[in-house]
Amino acid sequence: MTPSEAAPLVAEREGAAVRDALQDDLAAIELSLAGVRAVYAPRLDAAARHSLLAGGKRLRPLLTCAVMRTLGRDPGPQRAVIAAVELIHCGSLLHDDVIDDAETRRGRPAAHLAFDPHTAILAGDLLLALALERLARCGCAALQVAAATALVEVCQGEVLEREQRFDPEVDLARARRVNHLKTAALFGYAAEAGALLSGASDAERDAARAFGRALGDAFQTVDDLLDWEGDAATVGKPVGRDLWGGLVTVPAALAGERDPAVRVMVGRVLQARRDGAASPLELPELAAHLERAGGFAAARELAAADGRAATEALGRLPAGPWRTWLETPVRRALERTC
Ligand code: IPE
Ligand code: IPE
Ligand code: MG
Ligand code: MG
Repeated sequence: MTPSEAAPLVAEREGAAVRDALQDDLAAIELSLAGVRAVYAPRLDAAARHSLLAGGKRLRPLLTCAVMRTLGRDPGPQRAVIAAVELIHCGSLLHDDVIDDAETRRGRPAAHLAFDPHTAILAGDLLLALALERLARCGCAALQVAAATALVEVCQGEVLEREQRFDPEVDLARARRVNHLKTAALFGYAAEAGALLSGASDAERDAARAFGRALGDAFQTVDDLLDWEGDAATVGKPVGRDLWGGLVTVPAALAGERDPAVRVMVGRVLQARRDGAASPLELPELAAHLERAGGFAAARELAAADGRAATEALGRLPAGPWRTWLETPVRRALERTC
């Protein structure tokens, strides 16, 4: 993923004024992130920048900017604190890649391989600390409390996911709960931060957070699908890793609910993987069973329903070209291939 791959989010816009403003916002975010340094800790600095400056869609801070613009505010003066939303996201990615033993991130070797696990964990801590500093400097306590709340949820989601590993009983509700905590919480925060930085009413703040959360739910369901159906080179990270790593994600849970035979197959694969034995089925074969059971189609429908919930929440924010633009990330989340 390179910065130019974020372009469709920008280019698809309503008119030249919206497009230009989004390009300005994206450039300001990149500039602010490029300025992130920890020269007093060169190895951490290198690992943090390895991850932070490897592209990425910058979707979350762009949401913050667009919510501000929807509420009639110019994000320009707040660019440092808006970029903190990406620092929090990237810090969580550094930790997540250690937890998941991921090989690549944003098309590069994951930081724990390019450097070492200790450095990657501490680089994640560094980015989170730098984000907290930026949030504190802007003087809005509610923004800091909301960030802390979202981070606690991310931690809960990550640990719950670990606890559910190799459990063949994981159903849709449990798979969804993990996604809501580990991913939707930060999307909700990104949008809520836009409302908080705009001095919005409680009702607008709630609407922004509900929008972000529903978008995050849709986004993670599609991410779960990409792990089954995606192409690693396009996605920029390994695919086919979830079930092999013991995770029953939304498409597998849905397929299992539709066809008990698939549930049994998934259970057998999980058991083999847990025991370090050869899997009774190859991944493409299992994916074909999930697809035939309707698991992929049902996951797409679920993501689309979350997308509709996101759009409905937008209806509680002021109408205009920016509110209309906020429907683009929803559409892109549903259509994305990376
Ligand atoms: C990756 O998020 C983590 C998930 C919630 C799936 P993105 O797909 O937004 O990753 P980047 O920021 O563009 O690399
Ligand atoms: C996404 O976790 C949420 C966080 C990074 C906290 P995943 O493990 O599902 O995301 P990818 O697939 O590594 O991007
Ligand atoms: Mg991961
Ligand atoms: Mg993970």
